[in-house]
Amino acid sequence: MCGIVGYIGEEQAAPFLLKGLEKLEYRGYDSAGLCLNDGGKLVVKKSKGKLQELKILTNNGDTLHGTVGIGHTRWATHGEPSDVNAHPHLSESGRFAVVHNGIIENYLPLREMLTEKGIVFRSNTDTEVIAQLFEYYDQGNLMDTVIRVLSKLDGSYALGVLCRDHPDEIIAVRKESPLIIGLGEHENYIASDIPAILNKTRNIYRLENDEIAVIKRDSVQVFNLDKEPIHKELEVVDWDIAAAEKGGYEHFMFKEIMEQPKAFHDTITPHLKDGRVVLDEIHLTADQIRSFRKINILACGSAYHVGVVAKYVFEKILRIPVEADLASEFRYRDPIIDDKTLTVVISQSGETADTKEAMKEAKRRGSHVISIVNVLGSAIAKESNDVIYTLAGPEIAVATTKAYSTQLAVIYLMAIYFGDVLGKITDTEYQYYLQELQAIPEKIQQILEHKETVQYLASKLFHCNDVFFIGRNIDYALSLEGSLKLKEISYIHSEAYAAGELKHGTISLIEDGTLVIALATHEELIGKIVSNMKEVQARGAYVLCLTTEKHQELKSTSQSTLFIPSTCDMMLPSLAVVPLQLFAYYVAALKGCDIDKPRNLAKSVTVE
Ligand code: G6P
Repeated sequence: MCGIVGYIGEEQAAPFLLKGLEKLEYRGYDSAGLCLNDGGKLVVKKSKGKLQELKILTNNGDTLHGTVGIGHTRWATHGEPSDVNAHPHLSESGRFAVVHNGIIENYLPLREMLTEKGIVFRSNTDTEVIAQLFEYYDQGNLMDTVIRVLSKLDGSYALGVLCRDHPDEIIAVRKESPLIIGLGEHENYIASDIPAILNKTRNIYRLENDEIAVIKRDSVQVFNLDKEPIHKELEVVDWDIAAAEKGGYEHFMFKEIMEQPKAFHDTITPHLKDGRVVLDEIHLTADQIRSFRKINILACGSAYHVGVVAKYVFEKILRIPVEADLASEFRYRDPIIDDKTLTVVISQSGETADTKEAMKEAKRRGSHVISIVNVLGSAIAKESNDVIYTLAGPEIAVATTKAYSTQLAVIYLMAIYFGDVLGKITDTEYQYYLQELQAIPEKIQQILEHKETVQYLASKLFHCNDVFFIGRNIDYALSLEGSLKLKEISYIHSEAYAAGELKHGTISLIEDGTLVIALATHEELIGKIVSNMKEVQARGAYVLCLTTEKHQELKSTSQSTLFIPSTCDMMLPSLAVVPLQLFAYYVAALKGCDIDKPRNLAKSVTVE
């Protein structure tokens, strides 16, 4: 969702703010803006479109002066992307400037109230209400004003606020949307996420809900809503700075695809000790584990697709019913869930609003929540009962690749661990799964080394208008991700279908040249999917089949074939997803799409 950055120090703020926004563009990129305190006046520059537009407008920040400033990159919710709706928003007389990430749910009554008092709004955003409230309630004591304004707001927010009359401070506030404070030498920073400040400092505070920070050049003070000071624990970020850079690759997405062997390896290694899977993060006794009657998986987007793979894996190995739920649907359907249900929440960012709220609902109903999260200290990680971190490192491209892969890695670890506790797998199976798990990074590497094969196919097929991904069982789960990857970055219409379901309607869409990507890795069902391939070919489809190396015979039943190494059934998606990611990437590149920042999307969606 939106990205916030702020600077207070002794240098010109604008260049730092623009650099910081560059690192946050993954959070939203339909418009951007800056506000600086220039000698006692709040000067705002903003522009519709990508950050590049703002850079041109401000001559890379040179036309903006001041050593205190805030910046924002937006993903529109209230009000179309436009110059006027871009943040920062000023109060009527220009005394307050606000950048905001989140949604003010009661902005309409607040706007009506302020309009009745004669205040004229310039934008259609919920955020402008906050700026106007600041001015409306201000009686000279800034802290009192902040508390008064916050008491009026319902919803979620991370805020950066400048006040013209307090030229030596930035106010930062958070409720449900992430915000960190970076600590420098005679300068301090705020940001929605760590990459924005990593070139300046590794020392950070994480703001918690309902905390108010007063940030000056040489001090940072944090208060609660009763104005009591709060002691914050210093966190030292140990990220490798290169991990947040493109490192010579043209796109983050490609770099992140290539990083998957390492990310997978890094994620499983801490959990393998003396030939056993160790999940110390899970605080459940064997009896508690045995008491679960159901597993419920909650997630959005690609993380949900991992959940669908997990459904097949857990049900097969653990013999427990599993529901994979779209988090946005879960909480509004009065779900049947209690303390006999184990909830698994999956989220790269750990901040996705739908997932977070669904998790809270599951907890409220007594369910034990294990989260699988990539971002350390994020809201979901903190609020779940147990958290298992994926060690993918920072993922910047909006289309997820390495986070998806590492989430799968954790699912396999959990399947083996729970399978053992529940006595559902034999020692031989246990050893076999472990051996296959450890071999996955090397096998992904082998696939990456033959990426040109996928590139060639992409060059033959990138003109297609409609694509169907079909598969059965775990291949169906994978087809969901293959299809999403392609459509989100190449804008080609694509659907994922359970191969057996195609004939119940969708097959009417198949015509001469329609591309069907048939996933045929699941050993037991190869025969069935071959029949489905024939059905669509008979209606003119061009079939690209993805299968394992041992099924060379499938060359004769498809127009093109891609092969992956073999592994145990449950781990096949970890291999098969890689050519699908590459295919989407190369097609999007050939079409000249903005791969790392596809239109209308955001990486971290912190609104419902
Ligand atoms: C957004 C992203 C998706 C992602 C989903 C869930 O929609 O564009 O790529 O899968 O959010 O994000 P999370 O951070 O919860 O995994």
